Amino acid sequence: MSIEESVKGIKARDPAVNPGTRASSQRLTGRKALVTGASRGIGRAIVEALAEAGADVAVNYRSSEEKAEMVAMGAEAIGADTWTYRADISHIGEVEEMRAVVEKYFGKIDILVNNAGINVDMLFKKMDQESWNKVIQVNLNGVFNCTSTFLDHLMESEHGRIINITSIVGQMGNIGQANYAASKAGVIGMTKSLAKELARNKITVNAIAPGFIETDMVSGIPDKVKEKILAQIPLRRFGMPEEIGKAVAFLTSDDASYITGHVLNINGGMYI
Ligand code: NAI
Repeated sequence: MSIEESVKGIKARDPAVNPGTRASSQRLTGRKALVTGASRGIGRAIVEALAEAGADVAVNYRSSEEKAEMVAMGAEAIGADTWTYRADISHIGEVEEMRAVVEKYFGKIDILVNNAGINVDMLFKKMDQESWNKVIQVNLNGVFNCTSTFLDHLMESEHGRIINITSIVGQMGNIGQANYAASKAGVIGMTKSLAKELARNKITVNAIAPGFIETDMVSGIPDKVKEKILAQIPLRRFGMPEEIGKAVAFLTSDDASYITGHVLNINGGMYI
């Protein structure tokens, strides 16, 4: 697909038609962000929180254009400029096309949020190579694809920020999730290495490790298993996507300018 063709479905808020309601004092005013896997769940909440904080946001999605447009419209309603773009982040060619379009029609980004992720759970003794590779390809290689492709944007920014959404499972492991745990632990190692490498470019790199958050990913867990999980969470509830979004807005702001290489646990005390 050519860049011109792929621009179909992308739209920006017209400030003349919709001036928005945000105050100019917001801490991310003038910053541009890209959030991957942002048509629902945690990604959606991150878009909303960044928009609330004053950022303009490019919304990446893999399959649901309609849902992505809804997310963008929500951000536009509070005054953000938005772009939506379909790309499978596990294919570097698609990420490179996304970069070309984002750069041309939205602008260079200051903030990259690597949120897209999948799980294909099964006991390790049943795990085939395809199930292993699929999860690594999206959750770990996808973070590589997006970070390396957009790195020069971030290097040119005065406020370069990378936020990687990892998982409590990458920290403590979980039965049936060896592939997922390996991918998320890999993201933590990558975050810490990049924090050291990119400090000279004034880019901060942090990870957020959510515990169990109420999204489609968690709604598929059988009730009996959910009860067992809740018993292990000191705050006795699952987290809400907004609680991740707010942390992303903080870590990408100037208030967090001296925080890099950190893994922020948002897990109700389940892993400390
Ligand atoms: P979700 O399944 O609701 O959303 C994931 C999004 O990523 C979806 O919109 C999906 O289309 C997108 N996506 C998947 N593969 C993609 C690809 N190849 N290219 C582009 N987009 C792709 O899941 P949720 O819960 O919102 O998860 C978001 C992130 O948070 C994931 O990285 C997940 O591993 C992580 N996480 C979630 C937890 C939870 O309890 N919900 C706990 C810990 C981490």
